[in-house]
Amino acid sequence: MERIKEEFDKLLVDVKDQESLKQLKARFLGKKGRVSELFKNLRNIEPQKRKEFGAKINELKEYIEQRLNEKLLEIKQKQKEESLKKETIDITLDGRGINFGGIHPITLTIMEIEEIFSSLGFGVEVGPEIELDLFNFELLNIPKEHPARDMQDTFYINDNVVLRTHTSPTQIRVMKRQQPPVMFISPGRVYRRDSDITHSPMFHQVEGLLVDKNIRFSDLKGVLSGFLRRFFGDVPVRFRPSYFPFTEPSAEVDIGCIICGGKGCRVCSYTGYLEVLGCGMVHPNVLRNGGYDPDIYSGFAFGLGVERFAMLKYGIDNIKLFFENDLRFLEQFSLAKGRLL
Ligand code: DAH
Repeated sequence: MERIKEEFDKLLVDVKDQESLKQLKARFLGKKGRVSELFKNLRNIEPQKRKEFGAKINELKEYIEQRLNEKLLEIKQKQKEESLKKETIDITLDGRGINFGGIHPITLTIMEIEEIFSSLGFGVEVGPEIELDLFNFELLNIPKEHPARDMQDTFYINDNVVLRTHTSPTQIRVMKRQQPPVMFISPGRVYRRDSDITHSPMFHQVEGLLVDKNIRFSDLKGVLSGFLRRFFGDVPVRFRPSYFPFTEPSAEVDIGCIICGGKGCRVCSYTGYLEVLGCGMVHPNVLRNGGYDPDIYSGFAFGLGVERFAMLKYGIDNIKLFFENDLRFLEQFSLAKGRLL
């Protein structure tokens, strides 16, 4: 029995899986196994010693059963650990990344402009892109044969209807339906026959109008200087006399070149200044055309090109980039790049 036990112990060490464990069990506890043989041999033992002998064999049998059970648990535990090891997810692998949408830089620029003017109390109005010649030109003090029409290469739909060449007709539309005080900006698309690296046949403007009693040129200067410094940062702002048919006096506004800091570069044509908008005190004829009495009311108006603002602010040198929808360009304005508004 001692030898059988030793033999079993030795063999058990090498058992690595359930199959060989089963074979080992059969070899020792099976019908023809070593332990069963011992039981069979009992009859060859002297009757007095049989009981003691039988008890010894049972002990051995129990010992073997116990060791087999322990081994089975051990094997199962090992299998479990191995399969867990195989099934673990490697969380150090790169994820797949989510594509964030973005807001088009022109929309973004309009939103920024709206935010600044809204904070000053300006409302937002929109006008139609297909506009009457009457509103686009005539009521803005630009008669049919006025030379100022040459400045704007108009797309005519017929003699009386045009694609609006600027957002200024919104001034007339709002004045006609609302008495002063009015203060609003009006962003939108405008159209002109013009195309090069800084001009596109369709582009965007933001118009502005403020009319009330006692509005003076100093109000215009204060509002526009404040707006430009909020939009472009702390830059010099200067007003230059100019001419527009719908304002008197008229001015163009320059800011210190934000590309070269005023030293002079290609973008500012070595002047150190960039022209950014047109403005002026609303012409009495225009007030009258809108249904306002110029003896009681006065106001200022302005108009700016959104593409130009965006190009200067973001350092973009070709207007076509806004309209080609090249993702490599647009993605630079995506929400993922931190421009969360
Ligand atoms: N409408 C002008 C343009 O398209 C811009 C402009 C200039 C608008 C002066 C105004 C203004 O309201 O007062 O070039």
